Amino acid sequence: MQKPLSLFSFSKSKHHGTILCAVLRQPYSGHKPATTESKKPVDPRRIFKVYRFGGVSSNEKPQVMNYDLDVSTCGRMVLDALIKLKDMDPTLVFRRSCREGICGSCAVNLQGHNCLACITAIPQDKTINIYPIPHMYVIRDLVVDMTHFFDVYNSLRPYLIRRDSGSLGKFQYAQSISDNAKLVGLYECVLCSCCSTACPSYWWNGRRFYGPASLLHAYRWIIDSRDEDTEQRLFELRDDFKAFRCHTIINCTLACPKGLHPALIIAKLKRLISGLDKKEPPEIDTMKFSSSGPSCGC
Ligand code: SF4
Ligand code: SF4
Ligand code: FES
Repeated sequence: MQKPLSLFSFSKSKHHGTILCAVLRQPYSGHKPATTESKKPVDPRRIFKVYRFGGVSSNEKPQVMNYDLDVSTCGRMVLDALIKLKDMDPTLVFRRSCREGICGSCAVNLQGHNCLACITAIPQDKTINIYPIPHMYVIRDLVVDMTHFFDVYNSLRPYLIRRDSGSLGKFQYAQSISDNAKLVGLYECVLCSCCSTACPSYWWNGRRFYGPASLLHAYRWIIDSRDEDTEQRLFELRDDFKAFRCHTIINCTLACPKGLHPALIIAKLKRLISGLDKKEPPEIDTMKFSSSGPSCGC
C-alpha cells in the first residue's frame, strides 16, 4: 500500500483543471498494468485515438485519428501498440529508443496523464487517447520540441566542477557511502520531461521557471560532496522565477514514471538557495586517492 508523505499532504482538490490527489510517495499509477488477476476476459479490441499533426510547415490542421487495434497481436506496453499502429500507418511519428525506461524519449500523454510509453501497460479501457506531452511545441504527431528543456538543463552545468580542474580525469574523487546515498532519488532521472510538462508553473512560466526536471538536476550537482561549485550554482538560482515559481503543486511527483520526488527535492533546494540550510562538508577527503590511489584509467 502506498504511504502518505507527511511533508506534503492535502485533500482532493482541483487546480488549473488538473486533479490533485492526496500526495503519495509513489508516483501516480493510473495506468494499471494488464494483470492476469481480472476474472472477466477483457476484449482485446481497442480504439486508439492518436493526435496527428503534420508540423507548422504543413498546411494540415491537427486532428485526432482513430485506429482499431487488437492488442493481443502486439506486446503489452503502450509503445508496442504504437509500433503496431506504425506498421498499419507508417506516417505516424513518435520518439523511442531503448524500450526499457532508460532513454526517456518516449514520453506521451496517455488518458490525460504523462507516462513513458515503453514501461506503461496498455490500459484496459475500450478507448485509448494518446497525445503529445502537454504545453510543448509539436514538431509532428507525438514528437515535441525539447530544445528549450535541454537548453535549461545544459545551462545548469550538469557535471562535476572542481577548483583544481587540472586534476580532472587523473584520479578518482573519494566519496563516503552516506554522501553517495544523497544522490539516490536524483541520478535515476532520465530527463523524460513528464514532470515538467505536468507542472502548471512550467506551463505558464516555462521560459523563466526552470521546471522540476532541471531543478532536480541542479540539486543533484549542488549536493554532490565532490562538487566544489556550490556557491556559484546557488547564486545563479537566486531569482524569483528559476526555482521559486514552484508552488508545491506536486503534479511533477505524481507524473514521474521513475518514482522520483522532484517536488520534495525543489523544497530542499529552495532552503539551500535561501540559506536556511547549508550543504554539509564531505565526510571523507575527496582527494584521498590523489597520490597513491588507483587511477580511473581515463
Ligand atoms: S511541485 Fe513545483 S515543480 Fe512540481 S508540479 Fe508543483 S509547481 Fe511544478
Ligand atoms: S524527474 Fe522523473 S519525470 Fe522528471 S524528467 Fe526525471 S524521470 Fe522524468
Ligand atoms: S523508449 Fe526509452 S524510455 Fe521509452
